Amino acid sequence: MPVNVSAFMPAELNLVLVGPPGAGKGTQASRLVKDFSLPFISVGDILRANVKEGTELGVKAKEYMDKGELLPDDLVVDLITERLKQPDAKEGFILDGFPRTVPQAEALEKGLTVSGRKLTAVIVIEVPDEDLIERLSGRRVNPTTGRTYHIKYDPPKHEGVDDIDGTKLIQRDDDKPETIANRLKVYHDQTSPVIGFYERQNTENKALVRRIDGTREPDEVYRHIRALVATVRLEDTL
Ligand code: AP5
Repeated sequence: MPVNVSAFMPAELNLVLVGPPGAGKGTQASRLVKDFSLPFISVGDILRANVKEGTELGVKAKEYMDKGELLPDDLVVDLITERLKQPDAKEGFILDGFPRTVPQAEALEKGLTVSGRKLTAVIVIEVPDEDLIERLSGRRVNPTTGRTYHIKYDPPKHEGVDDIDGTKLIQRDDDKPETIANRLKVYHDQTSPVIGFYERQNTENKALVRRIDGTREPDEVYRHIRALVATVRLEDTL
């Protein structure tokens, strides 16, 4: 009797990372990328690259980013829906920073459904606001590669320079105290409802939304995320 091979093929792994600014989405995504060989699609990184290159999108984006505000939905929706159609995202993706509003979540759902795809899991990294302020104000980044450090929790070997290529580390423009406060407000007002949107899709047998305690050490947070991803992937193939 012929064997249905596709029944044993691993399903696509389509992950969304949600969490407040500084929750560690980028930190965890860099680990996930290595283990699961999926493209990491970070809206923040795409926008910062545009700002650096001085593109039309970059010039518009900077106005919003410097104030800690979200860009209008129409500017990011097409950008991401097109990106997800690229060949490298065929087997799955790790999305960071999208969706950030309910209309963005609806647009993502529509785009995926049209292509016969669905999300595997929405991973919510939870960290209280007081920890986030300390994390963001102490964050330093390599402006060329985006590699991230923290002056207390993950310091570079030599103060102020990247361990790998020696580039001078900088503080992101939106990591200034007044902007951090607004980013947290925007998260609670506009992005938290996205979690409710996805929780309404949880069923008795399968939870789409998986919450992770992001207050632990980065490696420990990652162990939980990796175990969770392995579980949801297995559930999806059953
Ligand atoms: P974006 O770049 O996405 O910023 P964000 O969501 O605010 O997230 P961050 O990059 O600040 O934090 P993270 O969770 O990745 O934390 P990280 O791992 O670096 O967006 C920037 C802007 O772009 C937005 O404000 C908006 O203007 C615009 N934008 C983006 N998406 C948009 C959209 N969809 N629609 C409209 N506008 C959009 O960690 C932070 C620090 O903590 C680091 O120093 C790290 O070393 C440290 N750290 C990490 N984990 C731990 C841990 N477990 N313990 C201790 N320290 C830790």
